[in-house]
Amino acid sequence: MSRYNVDVPKVTFLPENATFEFEHGKLPYREHGLPESALDVALNFGFNLEHACGGNNACTTCHVVVKSGAQNLSEMEDDEADRVETAADVQLNSRLGCQCIVKGDVVLEIPAWNRNYISEGGHSMNLGDAIPKSKSAH
Ligand code: FES
Repeated sequence: MSRYNVDVPKVTFLPENATFEFEHGKLPYREHGLPESALDVALNFGFNLEHACGGNNACTTCHVVVKSGAQNLSEMEDDEADRVETAADVQLNSRLGCQCIVKGDVVLEIPAWNRNYISEGGHSMNLGDAIPKSKSAH
């Protein structure tokens, strides 16, 4: 099989530079986020991307910024767009890890405020005041 086959996409998380390759339809763990979403891929490989709401598009802790391969993610649905707008330090290429389905190679950066969680390797938790205030918050 060609290493460029889009049926075996690679997801890279920065700044850890952690890359995971998976075959469509072969991820066994499907409990958080949409199947084959960036969050689903991460958790399948033991990479603890934050997911305070359990991957239900009800928080923004799975916020990632797409550095390359945006065309290889599912199109953003209205529900995701409404939610990601409320994320701290939202950017033009922001997505919610639990909602963006991986269809080809992508590189995703985890916002700086959420990186401690990754390095701690912890479980889902409420970051409370550690999360910067959303620009749209009143
Ligand atoms: S985990 Fe809460 S919106 Fe993605």
